[in-house]
Amino acid sequence: MFNKEVYIKRREALKKEIKSGIGLFMGNVDASFNYPANVYHFRQDSHFSYFFGLENPGFAGIIDFDNDKDYIFGNDFDIDDIIWMGVQPKVIDLAAKAGVVNTGQYEELGKMLSIAKMESKTIHFLPTYRGETVIELSNLLGISNADVKSGASEDLIKAVVKLKEIKSKEEVAEIEKAVDIAYEMHTTSMRMAAVPGRVEQEIAGTIEGISLALGGPVSFPIILSQDGQTLHNHHHDKVLEVGRMMVTDAGAETHLNYTSDITRTVPVGGKFNERQAEIYQIVVDANMAAIEAIKPGIKYRDVHFISARVLIEGLKKAGLMKGDVDAALEAEAHTLFMPHGLGHMMGMDVHDMEGLGENYVGYDENTTRATSFGTAYLRLGKELKPGFVLTVEPGIYFIPDLIDKFRSEGKFEDFINYDIVETYKDFGGIRIEDDILVTDTGYRVLGKPIPKTIDEVEAVMSNPL
Ligand code: GLY
Repeated sequence: MFNKEVYIKRREALKKEIKSGIGLFMGNVDASFNYPANVYHFRQDSHFSYFFGLENPGFAGIIDFDNDKDYIFGNDFDIDDIIWMGVQPKVIDLAAKAGVVNTGQYEELGKMLSIAKMESKTIHFLPTYRGETVIELSNLLGISNADVKSGASEDLIKAVVKLKEIKSKEEVAEIEKAVDIAYEMHTTSMRMAAVPGRVEQEIAGTIEGISLALGGPVSFPIILSQDGQTLHNHHHDKVLEVGRMMVTDAGAETHLNYTSDITRTVPVGGKFNERQAEIYQIVVDANMAAIEAIKPGIKYRDVHFISARVLIEGLKKAGLMKGDVDAALEAEAHTLFMPHGLGHMMGMDVHDMEGLGENYVGYDENTTRATSFGTAYLRLGKELKPGFVLTVEPGIYFIPDLIDKFRSEGKFEDFINYDIVETYKDFGGIRIEDDILVTDTGYRVLGKPIPKTIDEVEAVMSNPL
């Protein structure tokens, strides 16, 4: 945990945003995977963790906006718990670490909420993503499961986004720790991919172990495949072959739940061939152009299109696209090759606060989300502010089914050289992703620099593992 002043300050800041009622923050409970006592690794809810810091299952927090009081509810361990899990601090001692003096056993939470309901107080709560929490909220508040979904407080969502989107120094330091773990994961992945004939699973398992050994679990299921044209490929069953490129999209969590999210793509065997180097360099250029454009006040949607322009220019030079660059950009013809957005916010969730609703986090009254193919996947479009942490992750993918679909529809035929693109159907995909802090004057790439240029990648891979 951070020291208690951090959590006190966060709750004080929220009290300035929400003037009345009470805020109910549900921590997560243990979730079973194949029988009741066999549970997944416990992951605290990020919002509970942000305001109350405790990493224990079965806790809830209340912020009473009317009376300026905070509460933590949970159960003290009994002798059976102690026998199996060891001596644990009492709720009152845990709460003190978060600067909370008002505590109760969990059943007292229900009583407090009943009184609040009788007094017609507004009970603000956030959207949830776990079935257990939906059921618990339904019981606590006496509402149906459907009303739990629709009853989340928009005021609270907006206030939480406003606070959490600006990362403090200590949060940035945590994210950098997570990126530094990702450095070890990715350089290991590169060195292992220098050895053809290996099954992808061996690398995926090894780097997941690095995350656990150096910090916490991975921040999302590892994407690692020489079939990188499938954007989120979680199958790790292919045998690595020279001539293929291997995408590794992976990050770690720290013990305080802050995340990293990094992607690198490397040539199996360790040396880029001419065709790979040409396409790879375009993605590096798009990644760097986007990063260099980052500064307060620019809309991230504009950064997305700066990066897309570099992709179009490069693909035109390589003979895969044709025609006027501005017109191709206007038509969004690059979405054949990059059918996703440039990046997303990052923090305690790798897609930060996405559970609150993507548009609350990535868009605002001045920036409306596009509905067009590919661009609609851009999770962050709004104006950047100092303190935002986000990903920059352009890519070029040759997706045979998409190429066939667009060609048969005559889509973008003024801008795509389909005959040449056909010859790349065996190429796979490339994505290059970094984690960036928006500073007062521009940007900072977070963490220890992870090899990215062709020379840097080949140098690391010249030392196989
Ligand atoms: N890097 C995985 C994702 O953004 O979903």
